[in-house]
Amino acid sequence: MTDPHDLRVAVLGVGIMGADHVARLATTISGARVTVINDVVAERAESVAGTVPGSRVVADPFEAIAADDVDAVVLATPGPAHEKQVLACLAARKPVLCEKPLTTDPATALDIVRREAELDTTFIQVGFMRRFDHEYQRLRAMVADGTLGTPLLMHCVHRNASVPAHFDSAMVIKDSLVHEVDVTRFILDDEIVAVTIRRPAPNPAAPPGLQDPQLALFETASGKLVDAEVFVTTGVGYEVRTEVVGELGSTTIGAGKISADFRAHFAQAYDTEMQHWVGAVRGGASSGSYVDGPGAWDGYAAAAVCAAGVRSLETGERVAVDMVRRSSI
Ligand SMILES: NC(=O)c1ccc[n+]([C@@H]2O[C@H](COP(=O)([O-])OP(=O)(O)OC[C@H]3O[C@@H](n4cnc5c(N)ncnc54)[C@H](O)[C@@H]3O)[C@@H](O)[C@H]2O)c1
Repeated sequence: MTDPHDLRVAVLGVGIMGADHVARLATTISGARVTVINDVVAERAESVAGTVPGSRVVADPFEAIAADDVDAVVLATPGPAHEKQVLACLAARKPVLCEKPLTTDPATALDIVRREAELDTTFIQVGFMRRFDHEYQRLRAMVADGTLGTPLLMHCVHRNASVPAHFDSAMVIKDSLVHEVDVTRFILDDEIVAVTIRRPAPNPAAPPGLQDPQLALFETASGKLVDAEVFVTTGVGYEVRTEVVGELGSTTIGAGKISADFRAHFAQAYDTEMQHWVGAVRGGASSGSYVDGPGAWDGYAAAAVCAAGVRSLETGERVAVDMVRRSSI
């Protein structure tokens, strides 16, 4: 039975992540239901809609956003499609949970930040779901409450068994390392001001031309150093771990946990993220925010750091992050 008070959600892009979000909304999340499904591949949209009674397929993404039976939007289309679709959500004043990345470059992400700031309400949440993972929350709390003393260093590891054929060396930064960028900002509550990417000898099993693995070094505004290994063709499984080293000791999360893929690894985080978003959207009209989690600014900051990372990958040099001050928005 459908509840007339349920949030009516359109999901755009029902590939790996979008289909997972549809299933989550249909089975796990309370207070919301999927009413509209959109994908450029019509059979994929039809097939996913077939699993959700009461949903319908809308072929055009912008019609899906504007539809009368849609209160809010989940965007799980590829990064290059996000800019126009997020702007359409803002134009329609519809809350949106946009999968990372917000957009694929800092200029368009900043434009979105500015457009949202002109409105009386915040509409955009970005899918940096690790912020909802209980272990990351525990690590952040240990840093914030001083359990580890002053945090000094952080070590991150991000490994995938494989990536799709279209994945290139810049996507290792913009699609994978971007999570470590957000985790750094979240755990240390600090901005990243410079990035260096080093190119180890590539994995012989990686597709020709793909620089994998990559080693990143982030420098934060307060002088902390964070290293991140990103290795996306291990052939083994999905593995993410993070260690914070502080004045009084160190703590590691994720050690020894190897999952089939990100969906299995971060299932709790995705569920919690979606439930928080649904709660924020349902309660938002009165609070002036339809967001409970990372927003457009976090998407912009991550895009700015990743742009510096791609530049460093190309030049081999340390690259300062070019980012406007938040107070200037
Ligand atoms: N938060 C996470 O952990 C996480 C994990 C994986 C992917 N993602 C993000 O989710 C998004 C989708 O990734 P994916 O792995 O599911 O990709 P995917 O290729 O499996 O799915 C994308 C889907 O979008 C459809 N599509 C493409 N262009 C479209 C458009 N303009 N309008 C409507 N549909 C369109 C494609 O046909 C496809 O079905 C990306 O932004 C990706 O970075 C996030």
